[in-house]
Amino acid sequence: MMQLIRGFKDILPDEIHLWQHIELTARKLFENFGFTEIRPPLLEKTDLFKRSIGEDTDIVEKEMYTFADRKGDSVTLRPEATASVVRSYIQHKMYAQDPVRKLYTIGPMFRRERPQKGRYRQFYQINAEVFGIESPLIDAQLIFMLVKLFENLSVSDMATHINSLGCPECRPGFKKALTEYLLPKKESLCENCKNRIDRNPLRVLDCKVPSCREALEAPPEITSYLCRECSLHFDKVQTVLSDHGVSYKVDKQLVRGLDYYTRTTFEIQTTSLGAQSAIAGGGRYDGLVEALGGPPQPAIGFAIGFDRLVEISTLKSEDIATKGIAKRPDVFLVPLGDECTAMAGKWAGELSLAGIRTEIDFSGRSLKSLMKRADRLNARHVLIVGENELNQEAAVLRNMKTREQTEIPFDSLVESIKKQIQHQ
Ligand code: HAM
Repeated sequence: MMQLIRGFKDILPDEIHLWQHIELTARKLFENFGFTEIRPPLLEKTDLFKRSIGEDTDIVEKEMYTFADRKGDSVTLRPEATASVVRSYIQHKMYAQDPVRKLYTIGPMFRRERPQKGRYRQFYQINAEVFGIESPLIDAQLIFMLVKLFENLSVSDMATHINSLGCPECRPGFKKALTEYLLPKKESLCENCKNRIDRNPLRVLDCKVPSCREALEAPPEITSYLCRECSLHFDKVQTVLSDHGVSYKVDKQLVRGLDYYTRTTFEIQTTSLGAQSAIAGGGRYDGLVEALGGPPQPAIGFAIGFDRLVEISTLKSEDIATKGIAKRPDVFLVPLGDECTAMAGKWAGELSLAGIRTEIDFSGRSLKSLMKRADRLNARHVLIVGENELNQEAAVLRNMKTREQTEIPFDSLVESIKKQIQHQ
């Protein structure tokens, strides 16, 4: 039997209602906040991710699905969406008329991590990115929108962690202090971190290897090194979050796993998922548009781990299905005999096009077995057409709840069914 690849999974029809409900809720909310959708491709040049996420990160060093295409060019299945959205913003000169753009994208990402609960090799993210706004008010508004989305989805076990990573002005001072702190501990660190001390010491703070975690008792805190501008920015984010009624925790250890961040970073964490506690993460990346060849433009965004959100959701797919987000058939057509089946097949098309959710059975089985199937599908109505109905040129519509039956003349079938359905 063929099996799927380790770390990959099928999202099955039984689960899909919850996925669709979350997606729909996010789309509606984001669009009300002024976002529009963008759909970049899943495959990009490898260089895009190296230059944006950073060469010394876990993602680029160990986790990307990178391969040479048939011409030998190095391409990569996207491990995240921000780099692609930035590339697109620059490539299509989206900044030209009005640099402010609010974009969202939903889709699969690929990272070759060790699979475990809440961690997959193909996983889905819901991303939101804002370009062209320097003000800390947007940082707070974005976090507010994210928290409200989770609230709308009945996520209760969550905590908002925020930090500031400073800017090219003040980060070097912090890096120096961190390197000095790490050097005496070098021997206790993993091989990757030993190499990272000089090149990118911030990544050591983010390393998940237990020996590295233990070695770091009380590392220097970035917030003590922020320049005046970054400090004011961070203070303002906090004041506005409080004004919005968002509770948050300043988490000085929060460095995030990607190199492009500047200033505000944040994560929404849960205790429901064991080791994989982050259900969303993001931050500012004010230097990335320019670093990838665009004009200097500030930017900020986040990504939600869609799979993790589904896993911790207290909403159940079946409940959503019965609440009508995923609809059961309005009409299940039960034709008896070849002639009726051919005729009903045509009606099924017409009913579907008229906006009525229609299902039909072509099997030619008995009335009894087709009625059983109607029950299994939880159909609201059944339309029966057999020899008698053919003679009288009227089918029988049965309401499956009240058991009430109505005659539906063939010559006004769609209209009559529509009327009956709207009545109930
Ligand atoms: P990230 O923290 O790497 O950030 O990923 C965001 C979220 O994706 C995580 O919090 C987690 O919920 C989910 N996630 C990550 N890896 C996996 C995995 N292997 N399996 C399941 N879920 C996973 C980013 O990707 C940034 N691009 C976020 C961002 C957008 N920053 C600015 N704009």
